Amino acid sequence: MNILLTGGTGYIASHTAVVLIKEGHKVVLFDNLANSDISVLDRLEKILNKKISFIEGDVLDSELLSKTLKEHKIDAVIHFAGLKAVGESVENPLHYYENNVGGSISLIKAMQKNGIKKIVFSSSCTVYGEPQYLPLDESHPTNPINPYGFTKLFAENILHDLSISDPTWSIAVLRYFNPVGAHESGLIGESPKGIPNNLMPFIAKVATGELKSLKVFGNDYKTRDGTCERDYIHVMDLAEGHLAGLNFLEDHKGWYAINLGTGQSTTVLELLQAFEKINHVKIPYEIVGRRKGDAPACYAKPSYANKILDWKTKRSIELMCESSWKWESSHSI
Ligand SMILES: NC(=O)c1ccc[n+]([C@@H]2O[C@H](COP(=O)([O-])OP(=O)(O)OC[C@H]3O[C@@H](n4cnc5c(N)ncnc54)[C@H](O)[C@@H]3O)[C@@H](O)[C@H]2O)c1
Repeated sequence: MNILLTGGTGYIASHTAVVLIKEGHKVVLFDNLANSDISVLDRLEKILNKKISFIEGDVLDSELLSKTLKEHKIDAVIHFAGLKAVGESVENPLHYYENNVGGSISLIKAMQKNGIKKIVFSSSCTVYGEPQYLPLDESHPTNPINPYGFTKLFAENILHDLSISDPTWSIAVLRYFNPVGAHESGLIGESPKGIPNNLMPFIAKVATGELKSLKVFGNDYKTRDGTCERDYIHVMDLAEGHLAGLNFLEDHKGWYAINLGTGQSTTVLELLQAFEKINHVKIPYEIVGRRKGDAPACYAKPSYANKILDWKTKRSIELMCESSWKWESSHSI
């Protein structure tokens, strides 16, 4: 298949490109480089020993998208492009709605114009909001608690309405839990601009000495060791989930919301200790007060994905920590 990856030079898309190309698919990356670097292309070419097609552009530019879809004879799209910083979305909600919701509409219109009706959408467990029960399954009510989460839910709903108005669309809405880790080569990985919002890149930057110490927000939750529990998923497992999603859409029409997680929870301190142990480094940390909006625990029930996508996560927390460190230590030292 010819597959367009919007947000193609970003963290999850670049790893997905590796999996898709290795599987024999043709991939076109489309990105405005708002949160990624053009050097990803060289790194991908090193891993794959192949030239990578890249278009620099904004998903709000429906004309350019349409031209790209046509010229590259695209069969399916994975829509990764989006802004993802929760705090920034609270400070600048219009920018987030415009980029994430407006960008999705612009893409869907371009697809419609070209008769392309297969899309995998990057959604998030954030759409569930504060968990009412655990593990989170796909029928858990959706109730985001910040603008970023709402942009994901709105885009999900737009795609759902589209599938009702035109049942010939095939749509997989993948709700990711907490993607971490990097490709085994250490050539690509997560490289957030500025101070990382997520735990693993933060830990990795403390390990390099770039940041002094990790702030652990609260150790008085009702969890195994008092710190928050999350469902960390290796980005390569997640990438393989996209391939499974595309395969599923080959012979399924309609709209499907699917959790991609491991079903296992790991606390902040457990992740930190695993990172220290596997990588033989010390991570100084301090316990500070709870952070507003943090749920004590959040983890997936992945059985729907296991069943309909015939996909399961394979990689351990240790491998997540090891690959993150390989990536971080090779590009920042
Ligand atoms: N990483 C996570 O923790 C996580 C969790 C759940 C969902 N997601 C979603 O998965 C997707 C990919 O996330 P990621 O972690 O790879 O983030 P990322 O920031 O590394 O990748 C997103 C890419 O989209 C690009 N982009 C943003 N707006 C664009 C626009 N208007 N036009 C063209 N390109 C644009 C950015 O430049 C970036 O390269 C996002 O939609 C994100 O919301 C991420």
